[in-house]
Amino acid sequence: MSDNHATPPPAPTDDDYKIIAFCCNFCAYAAADLAGARRMQYPANVRVVHLPCTGKLEMDAVLAAFERGIDGVLVAGCLEGGCHYLEGNLRAKRRLEAIRNLLDEIGLGRDRLLMVNLSAAMAPTFVERVQEMVATVKRLGPNPLRVTANARGVAVPAARRPEACTAKGATST
Ligand code: FES
Repeated sequence: MSDNHATPPPAPTDDDYKIIAFCCNFCAYAAADLAGARRMQYPANVRVVHLPCTGKLEMDAVLAAFERGIDGVLVAGCLEGGCHYLEGNLRAKRRLEAIRNLLDEIGLGRDRLLMVNLSAAMAPTFVERVQEMVATVKRLGPNPLRVTANARGVAVPAARRPEACTAKGATST
């Protein structure tokens, strides 16, 4: 039997989408924690990463997340004017806007990166933003930089998977 045809991997399920939420130690993490304490439901494919302040988030860390195949990044900090390090969240906002522009330039799409400002009591808003991010990455499709193994264990970048060929703007030859 010929082994020339690679077996396409299955289409991604909801659980296959991977999202990181970088949360500052104060308001944002407290909001995420409160959402958990209140047993508010949000998608399980979101991993919360704890930061001292969003101003401490390096651009390299965000880019590395996308390089490694993360589908969406949410950055959650204190309300504007409420950062415990004064202007950390404002600096983060400027840096993230630069990264969003870069994501557009390289074709990943700026919507994969979102910043949200929260108070410690805004657990429902945290959950809403997470749900919005999941909906966004599902609409955009898997990160094309993500490499997964097909049924034979062969690495297949998301951009070469069959569903990527049916993405908006794709043409058949
Ligand atoms: Fe929360 Fe700076 S301490 S954003």
